Amino acid sequence: MSRPWNFAAGPSTLPLEVLQQAAAEMCDWNGSGTSVMEMSHRGKHYSRIRDEAEADLRTLLAVPDDFEVLFMQGGASAQNAIVPMNLIGRAGLGRADYVLSGHWAGKSFKEAARYGDIAVAATAESETVIGGHRFGPWCWLPDPAEWRVRRDAAYLHLCANETIGGVEQAVMPDMAALGAPDVPLVADMSSNILTRPIDFSGLGMVYAGAQKNAGPAGVTLTFVRKDLMGHALPHCPSVFDYANVAGAQSMFNTPPTYAIYVAGLVFKWLLRQGGVAAMD
Ligand SMILES: Cc1ncc(COP(=O)(O)O)c(C=O)c1O
Repeated sequence: MSRPWNFAAGPSTLPLEVLQQAAAEMCDWNGSGTSVMEMSHRGKHYSRIRDEAEADLRTLLAVPDDFEVLFMQGGASAQNAIVPMNLIGRAGLGRADYVLSGHWAGKSFKEAARYGDIAVAATAESETVIGGHRFGPWCWLPDPAEWRVRRDAAYLHLCANETIGGVEQAVMPDMAALGAPDVPLVADMSSNILTRPIDFSGLGMVYAGAQKNAGPAGVTLTFVRKDLMGHALPHCPSVFDYANVAGAQSMFNTPPTYAIYVAGLVFKWLLRQGGVAAMD
């Protein structure tokens, strides 16, 4: 069998070992006599699959205990609305700042504008010259030293890897140095999650559609600092309220069980490769 390299965006290559294991277990998971697709999401077999997936993901990224790991649906695009609906109302703040680094940050910004007072902290929309080199619009990242962050913003959103423009915010900015030590960072890591360790210290939340780096489409990996939950706007759908999802161990409704199972196999594969340090 010849397998092409897939450098395209969208769903990407999965490790062959993972696909082969999923194929071998397709009709009978671990002697259960059923496919993972057919299992009750509240039964003992699936609970084990889910719990191991979360534990392995926590190990891979050294997720601190004060963060919930949520397996959600709707992709990163849904988070563009779910994030402001959950976080913008904290302490009645009603405002959030966004770094415009390209296509995906722009989409997040546009969606968030429906939920509160949203401002641009920095933008890469114009040409610039850095170190004598000319960069076109959306081909560079504004220097964090120049970002304008409101001290009373509920959060600062950035896209850690602009999948289309190809620019990566590899190191998270120091919010204290930006004059906004209490503003949590929210990072869309859809296309660089699990490629390097994450420093959670300034982060309030991280989200990533699984389909690029972690498994099939259908599950969104979501990490939310616990103290930021419980402030959802009144019109936030119950199923998208982080506090509800966390309270129900990501089973507020039927989760995307098969996608979580395959992502779990990828997490185990990543651990066998040496984890995110080896990926980096
Ligand atoms: C950085 C980034 N954010 C968001 C998205 C949208 O993700 P989804 O299709 O899971 O909604 C993508 C998809 O390519 C992306 O690369």
